[in-house]
Amino acid sequence: MKSRTLLIGSSGKIGKLLVPMLLEADIPTVAMVRDREKLENREGLEIVEADLEKDIGHVFEGCDRVIFCAGSGPDTGLDKTFLVDLWGARKAVAEAKKQGVEQFILVSSQGADDPEAGPEKMRPYLIAKHLADEGLIDSGIPYTIVRPGQLTNDKGKGRITTSLPGDPDQQKIPREDVASVLLEALKQKAPLNGIINIWQGEQSIEETLSSL
Ligand SMILES: NC(=O)c1ccc[n+]([C@@H]2O[C@H](COP(=O)([O-])OP(=O)(O)OC[C@H]3O[C@@H](n4cnc5c(N)ncnc54)[C@H](OP(=O)(O)O)[C@@H]3O)[C@@H](O)[C@H]2O)c1
Repeated sequence: MKSRTLLIGSSGKIGKLLVPMLLEADIPTVAMVRDREKLENREGLEIVEADLEKDIGHVFEGCDRVIFCAGSGPDTGLDKTFLVDLWGARKAVAEAKKQGVEQFILVSSQGADDPEAGPEKMRPYLIAKHLADEGLIDSGIPYTIVRPGQLTNDKGKGRITTSLPGDPDQQKIPREDVASVLLEALKQKAPLNGIINIWQGEQSIEETLSSL
């Protein structure tokens, strides 16, 4: 059977950039959304409705890769951070495990490695991301964790760095480049069982991932 990729968070800002990239790369894609009206119907795209706060088991059927780029966003409270970013991600990992998924790519965040070192008001969010990452690592599913710096809506340049920029103002990355990294991680199946920190930079995405 042909490989199918489940994209969780496909109606989000990164998700909406990634969907056409996946289709362009001829990767059969199942897009999970809470509301199908939020996503344009495209040829070759299967859309499945589900909510991370409810039962999500049915969306994993027949999918051997998962990309999780969902998140509760900055305009909701800590309750949603825990229900979506933490518990939603862990639920998705548990379902992926049952399905025998071969690669789970999770969008985490810069600072999730050491939440207590982050700015005080970010710590609960970073703890949620840390625990979601840990759940994936401990699951035994081959994983790729992507930790971007601050996201921007700038046009992607296709170039990144994996070394923390010294200037805090440079610790950012366009969502379009994050989407390209997710696509490349899927295509190269790499880094497998690895964590990649990414910011805007000068290295080609393809070469960076193939060198890891
Ligand atoms: N903002 C930053 O600077 C930053 C930095 C590093 C990492 N990140 C992470 O990057 C990721 C994606 O960012 P983004 O800008 O693309 O986010 P976004 O535009 O807010 O998209 C979030 C996605 O998650 C979905 N979602 C939220 N709650 C859900 C639920 N209960 N069930 C199913 N889906 C749900 C949303 O669906 P709806 O369309 O239905 O709402 C949407 O598709 C997030 O994990 C975020 O934490 C952000």
